[in-house]
Parts: sequence; C-alpha cells; structure tokens
Amino acid sequence: MKIALLPGDGIGPEIVREAVRVLDRLRHDGLPIETETAPIGGAGHDAAGHPLPKATLDLAQAADAVLLGAVGGPKYDTLPRELRPEQGILGIRKAMGLFANLRPAILYPELAAASTLKPEVVAGLDLMILRELTGDIYFGQPRGRRRNAAGDDEGFDTMLYSVPEIERIARVGFETARRRSHKLCSVDKANVLDTSILWREVVTRVGRDFPDVALSHMYVDNAAMQLVRAPKQFDVIVTGNIFGDILSDEASMLAGSIGMLPSASLDANRKGLYEPIHGSAPDIAGQDKANPLATILSLGMMFRYTFARADVADRIEAAVRRVLAQGHRTGDIAMPGERSIGTRAMGDAVAAAL
Ligand code: IPM
Ligand code: MG
Repeated sequence: MKIALLPGDGIGPEIVREAVRVLDRLRHDGLPIETETAPIGGAGHDAAGHPLPKATLDLAQAADAVLLGAVGGPKYDTLPRELRPEQGILGIRKAMGLFANLRPAILYPELAAASTLKPEVVAGLDLMILRELTGDIYFGQPRGRRRNAAGDDEGFDTMLYSVPEIERIARVGFETARRRSHKLCSVDKANVLDTSILWREVVTRVGRDFPDVALSHMYVDNAAMQLVRAPKQFDVIVTGNIFGDILSDEASMLAGSIGMLPSASLDANRKGLYEPIHGSAPDIAGQDKANPLATILSLGMMFRYTFARADVADRIEAAVRRVLAQGHRTGDIAMPGERSIGTRAMGDAVAAAL
C-alpha cells in the first residue's frame, strides 16, 4: 500500500500529520503501508516554482493512493492563475483522470447541535454528493480575457461536457445509488444551459440500464434551497463540477462543520486521491486549531475504495465516532461554552480509540 502524502499549505501539514499517526498505528498492526511526501500548491511553488512539480505528479502516479491536505494562502494570491496553488489540485485531478468525486455528508448524532440547521431537519442525515471533477467550466476551452467589439475588456470561461464524460459519471452515480437506497437525483440547470440539457438527456439514457434505481432531476437553484429546507429527501446526488463544488460546501454545514467532510476522487480503476473538502484555512494555520477528522475520514475512504479494505475503513470511522461520543471537540464543532481541544489532541484521541 504505497501512499503519496501531499500536505500542501496552511493547515494542510498539521491535519495530514494526524492522519499519518493513524497510518502508523495501522502499520504497527501489520498493514504493509509505505508513505512518501511531496510538496503541492503554494509549497510546490516555493520548492520548485510550480504548484504541481513534476516530481510530485510522478510520485502520485506511482503510488496506489494519494492523501492531500489543502492548498492556498494569501502569500500566493497575487500569482497569475496558472501558478496559483489551486492549479496544483486541479492539475493533479486532471492528470490522474480523477473524474468521480465522492463527497459524503454524514451528521454524527453527537454533532446535531453543531449544525446551524434545526436538529430535526438534519438528524440522521447521510447524503452522498457525487461531483464530476475533470470537466465543466473548470477546464472548458476557450477561456481567458479579451477585448470585445465595443472596446471593453471581458473575461470568459466555457461550460462544456461531452457525452462520454457525462455517461461515465452517471454510471458511477447509478452504481453508487444501487449500493445505497436506489435513489439518484441528478442536478443541472437544464432550463437555461445547453450543457445541462445534454447532461439531462444522457443521464436519463444511462438510467435505462439501471431500472432498479429511481432517477429524479432537479435544477441547481432548487437543489440549493432543498438542501437546507429538507436535506433528507436526498440520498445520492450526481452533478457537474461547478454545481458540485458549491453544493458540497453547502451540504457540509448540514453535517455541523466543513471540518468533518472527507472526499474521494477516483479514476476509472478506483485509484484515488483523498482529501478533506475544506481549504487551507490560513487564518488558523500552525495554531493547533484545525479539525483533523475530515482528513482522517478521507483515509477511511481510501481503505474502502482504493484498497477495498472495508474492515479498516469501518475501524477508522468507528474510532472517529468514538472520540465524538467521548466528547472530544475541536473549536469548529464545539458548542458555545463547551471545552475544545487542538489538532494534536484530537489526533491523540483517534489514535487511542483505534
Ligand atoms: C474543492 C475546492 C477546489 C475546487 C479548489 C481549491 C480548486 O474548492 O475541492 O472543492 O474548486 O474544486
Ligand atoms: Mg470547493
């Protein structure tokens, strides 16, 4: 089990450090885990002048799985877009063909009060957002800046999906729904966008191969509203890159904190990159305040999906449930007046629970 560790920027190194302690524990218990670390994002830019240094991509491609922390920081905000830390993440997703991004939003019962929504609205929430990750307006060409006929400067991007791109993510959506409640909601903007009209046609067509899955369609604006109105109506949501980016941040608040949401980004062979969905949080970096649980849960997903070791994934998830049940809280999931602990102490608690 060769794992590439890409801690990145901001809180990335601290949260990955705690996940590594989980790996150490598992290795101690006999799993053949090997790790190697490389810089990405701003750290890549500092080390090699590029957010995705070639050596980092080579390492990631040679590994069986990748664990990523987070990228970005104020220091890099003035770099041209091609050199910004975000290009490290986008570049590795594209280069490795990681088109299927699984973002589960689960509300642990202990955190019902940490959500900004009423407990009865979110209690028992267990939602899977499946986001297409290598297409759409993130990568569509042409894009850029130009001067128009009226002499005004413009910025433009292209929303674009090909039929095979939609088909393969739709299939993952239906297969995911099959393993859960046999319900799939496809989110688009087919009342306005040509890309979405095609998306809806293709998802519907793929659905004929999955007669046991109930397919529904929803416009993204309505989905954004329904997610906070009645989130439990959803089980699996499949959507494009930009809508999935936005809806998954929204869904994270249903689960109490963005510090709780892991993700898996898989290629066609289930090789994957695993990362918390939150960012690098430069405002709290290096202060032992970040919640390492999303990263540790991402490791759980790695064992479930890439290594097909559901037993190890269950063990990691059980350890997280246990520390929450024991009352351990980092600042983001602590209630007002509740005692909170730091990144390191949360890692200690998980290691002990394991
Ligand atoms: C995410 C992030 C990234 C994205 C950024 C960091 C490029 O917001 O993983 O959701 O937009 O995909
Ligand atoms: Mg995002």
